[in-house]
Amino acid sequence: MRYKILGRSGLRVSELALGTMMMGPEEPGRAGPLESRRIMEAYAEQGGNFFDSAPVYNNGQSEQALGEFVNTDRERYVVTTKYTNVMYSGLDPRIPDDPNRGGNHKKSMVQSVEGSLRRMNLDYIDLLWIHLWDFSMDIEDVMRSVNDLVQQGKVLHFGLCNTPAWVVARGQTAATIRGWEPISALQYQYNLIERDLEFELIPCANALGIAVTAFSPLSGGFLTGKYTRDVERESSRLDGNWFDTLENYSEQDFIVARKVDEIADRLGTSSSAVALSWVQQRGVLPMVGARTAEQIIDSLKFLSVELSDEDMQELNQASATEWPWTYNLMQGERSSVIRQLAAGGMLEQIDNPGFPG
Ligand SMILES: NC(=O)c1ccc[n+]([C@@H]2O[C@H](COP(=O)([O-])OP(=O)(O)OC[C@H]3O[C@@H](n4cnc5c(N)ncnc54)[C@H](OP(=O)(O)O)[C@@H]3O)[C@@H](O)[C@H]2O)c1
Repeated sequence: MRYKILGRSGLRVSELALGTMMMGPEEPGRAGPLESRRIMEAYAEQGGNFFDSAPVYNNGQSEQALGEFVNTDRERYVVTTKYTNVMYSGLDPRIPDDPNRGGNHKKSMVQSVEGSLRRMNLDYIDLLWIHLWDFSMDIEDVMRSVNDLVQQGKVLHFGLCNTPAWVVARGQTAATIRGWEPISALQYQYNLIERDLEFELIPCANALGIAVTAFSPLSGGFLTGKYTRDVERESSRLDGNWFDTLENYSEQDFIVARKVDEIADRLGTSSSAVALSWVQQRGVLPMVGARTAEQIIDSLKFLSVELSDEDMQELNQASATEWPWTYNLMQGERSSVIRQLAAGGMLEQIDNPGFPG
């Protein structure tokens, strides 16, 4: 296992993060307490130290399972959890509705962090993420609130999930000017099926010294080969145990998944390993999930995979998406003319590594 520096936090995190969203309860599509422990042990045995959870995952049971595991050797692990999203009575009738239990504001943040610390039996959280941007706040006020928690020692670092790039940029600028705890990392969906991150967020993060992590790097299991190869498989998440189902995937998505299988066969490794390596070689740290220990062991094969330029090109082409208009100007069919216009006719003599692509 190799380790990466997580943005401005300086934290050394393993090159593969482990998400615990499907851990905790004995329910279809989830890993019960014993299996959750086996998954975390298999990951940590290979040097994994970077864990992710959230209060909303299985109504706190994911955090509980994570807390039990990391408390065996607390200092060794980088524990991250989130605030903003909570269960509500529509998902679980035992939970009362309350407008201040969710959201980006300070009361929600403080109450959520207190709850997470209690459930995980920890004194501090290594990194707190906003779970999603709820469009109710100015990011400057959020940055000040999280800085208070950092001052109190309850949270060490901060990150954002599912937040527009312009909000990220404003938040980092405010923190830098005021000397507050900066945004160290971002967390968004990124995989060979979903590449939106490449247009705004990755360049934004690179410019501002923020690390980028990818949730659902296997697209919820779609890129593991089990839906595309002739193999027997157990009932799984995309069979209807979760929000996404197999029906959400297009014929083009299946072409991408078969390309992953083809490259895995060529390299003698697993499809999961190839899908994770593609994310990593695009400069993003994959945060994988698992329902069984066998799955995480299969995914960890990624540690010994290096995709060649040709492999990357084949995967990039199979999964290419259309660029938004602003970027397409410099990237699409007319780009050579447009680039030349902006270069006063001297494009070949100007070094500009900033072009999108
Ligand atoms: N910030 C956010 O909004 C957000 C959103 C989603 C997730 N996350 C975080 O990201 C983590 C990972 O997300 P994810 O669970 O969607 O990631 P994923 O790695 O794309 O999907 C994991 C699922 O794929 C299947 N799987 C995993 N490895 C496999 C293997 N080797 N062979 C066959 N099937 C395999 C399992 O489901 P089945 O066995 O049921 O098929 C597993 O639950 C989460 O745990 C969470 O921490 C964050």
